[in-house]
Amino acid sequence: MTMAAGTAFAPARARHDPRALDALRRLASGARVGPPALARLAAGHPIPRPRAAELLDPSGLTGLCDVGAGDITGDWYVPRVRVAAVADRPAVVVAGPVERPVAYAGLDTVWLADVASCAKHAPGVGHGAGPTGGAAAELGCGTGLLAALLARTYPVVVATDLDPRAVEAAALTFALDARPRDHRVLVTAADGAAGLRTGAFDLVAVNPPNMTEADTTWDDGGSTGFEATRRMLAESLGLVRPGGTVVAVVLDVRYDDGRWPLRSLCRGWRRLGLGVTVADSPAVDEWPTMAADLQSRFVGSIGIRHVIVTITRPDRRGQTGASTRGRGERIGG
Ligand SMILES: C[S@@+](CC[C@H](N)C(=O)[O-])C[C@H]1O[C@@H](n2cnc3c(N)ncnc32)[C@H](O)[C@@H]1O
Repeated sequence: MTMAAGTAFAPARARHDPRALDALRRLASGARVGPPALARLAAGHPIPRPRAAELLDPSGLTGLCDVGAGDITGDWYVPRVRVAAVADRPAVVVAGPVERPVAYAGLDTVWLADVASCAKHAPGVGHGAGPTGGAAAELGCGTGLLAALLARTYPVVVATDLDPRAVEAAALTFALDARPRDHRVLVTAADGAAGLRTGAFDLVAVNPPNMTEADTTWDDGGSTGFEATRRMLAESLGLVRPGGTVVAVVLDVRYDDGRWPLRSLCRGWRRLGLGVTVADSPAVDEWPTMAADLQSRFVGSIGIRHVIVTITRPDRRGQTGASTRGRGERIGG
């Protein structure tokens, strides 16, 4: 067996190593439904080497070590990555116990994925679908979970990310996840929507970075935290065709001096005839201390919400097919 202690995890190598890919698929199924030892491995816990070889096959174990996804230490197999999978959503390879995370994934990823994957069947979405049945894009795709999910229903999915490590992670996610044979999903290293065809997509999904004073690309929203959101939403709107929809999860901050950046944006979009809905995300229940925790970062803030925003371009008949005021709407102008 190859000893690979110290080899940094390389998603691109994992993608091209059938032994590692097979082992990662087994870990993904372990993350969904036991046996408990496989679930422990998927969660990044060391287990005795013979048991790991039994569960992942000796060649799988070698493959994982060769791509830096684990180490053999004495009689133990020590994972250096975790494989996360929720229900039948795509599995993603995330932070190991030692490694720095290669890409962001969080509860908000799952919320956006759930909304975006329903959007195809929502009224007003997909009217502009071409003969191939539709195209979707994700800007800032992180682990690629959402893009992989979209590729199960959209024949064409294009994802971008600024961070090359996220691009590698997403490509690995796509390699792990199954989709109809004629569906295509690809990820490219790009700033926002750079290089993507304007007006070509039925759905664009985005979970922009939204923090101030951030030290990671996935958090870095710019000096007020909203710059990246503003820009990525504008670029997303440029990508959708008439009748198409942008879905985003966004931090909505209101300030004591009257500034309310998301509300101002929404007003502008409505004036342009776009259909806009803003609703509380599940953060309202899942992250009850979020607003208090973030208040010191957003100086002068008097309200912080995490919201799901949908923006629909009118179709060729001028219809948006969506209510301009969604459930939970509180910031309409
Ligand atoms: C909050 S994370 C969301 C990741 C993923 N969409 C999800 O929901 O799990 C934001 C992502 O945007 C990427 N990003 C930041 N600035 C970007 C830019 N200018 N262009 C493209 N991607 C960017 C980060 O690298 C990160 O992967």
